[in-house]
Amino acid sequence: MPIKIKKYVDADVKKQEALKQNGEIPIHIAIIMDGNGRWAQKQNLPRVAGHKEGVESVRDMVEACGQLGVKYLTLYAFSKENWKRPKDEVSVLMRLLMRALQNEADKLHRNNVKVRAIGDISTLPIEVQNGLLDAIIKTQNNTGLNLLLALSYSGRWDITQAIKKIASDIKRGSLSEDNIDDAMVSKYLSTQGIPDPDLLIRTSGELRISNFLLWQLAYSEIFISPLFWPEFRRDQLYQVITDYQSRERRFGMTGNQIKTKQ
Ligand code: IPE
Ligand code: IPE
Ligand code: MG
Repeated sequence: MPIKIKKYVDADVKKQEALKQNGEIPIHIAIIMDGNGRWAQKQNLPRVAGHKEGVESVRDMVEACGQLGVKYLTLYAFSKENWKRPKDEVSVLMRLLMRALQNEADKLHRNNVKVRAIGDISTLPIEVQNGLLDAIIKTQNNTGLNLLLALSYSGRWDITQAIKKIASDIKRGSLSEDNIDDAMVSKYLSTQGIPDPDLLIRTSGELRISNFLLWQLAYSEIFISPLFWPEFRRDQLYQVITDYQSRERRFGMTGNQIKTKQ
């Protein structure tokens, strides 16, 4: 390894160790990866250049989260509403997605990452569906980071499809109305079996959820970064986690109750 890279890697390992010592590493991090287009426009590049550079941030985030021992990373890559974008941009995004899946599947597998997808997957172009399926099957027995790709996803879609399934199970007689509670509803969502995000990060300074995990974000800690997604790399993630570690999550209780529980 060249000396310069080795120095960088050694320094990075130190930062990660310090973070682990400092407090809890979030089990589940969800990210709204926003600002690719504006990042590109800022430097007079076409929007697609921003999407390409955004893939580099995804790569860095997946690697860093795996090394830190984060168990779940959910990335909002394409929303249901994003279908409303100009046709050209949508097709570039789909092509980039397919290429990233093809190019990265082996590396993800080597790094013990397990790929999953949430969203209305049947609406994606068939080549993307196939690329996804290949990556999911290849990595299905891995035990490291669970990478959830939110594609053609929206929180309202998720809740609606859950309600439909619940209604149909009640009709079939396999579910009783009396058994419906929070935990039961969670089981019908696309994130079934996955703990709710501890931390939600949104880049590009926008103060909104944009139809992401509406149900699952009930008690997530929110961090908005002013940086555009292509600028958001592992050092920024470390800063956000440090901030997360300084917060008190009260879940409706008082600060005293939380302190005496610990
Ligand atoms: C995020 O960047 C990527 C997707 C939503 C697919 P944007 O493309 O939304 O970039 P801005 O927000 O227009 O700058
Ligand atoms: C949210 O970003 C969706 C993704 C990052 C995939 P948008 O750029 O679509 O959100 P709005 O339209 O600014 O709310
Ligand atoms: Mg945007």
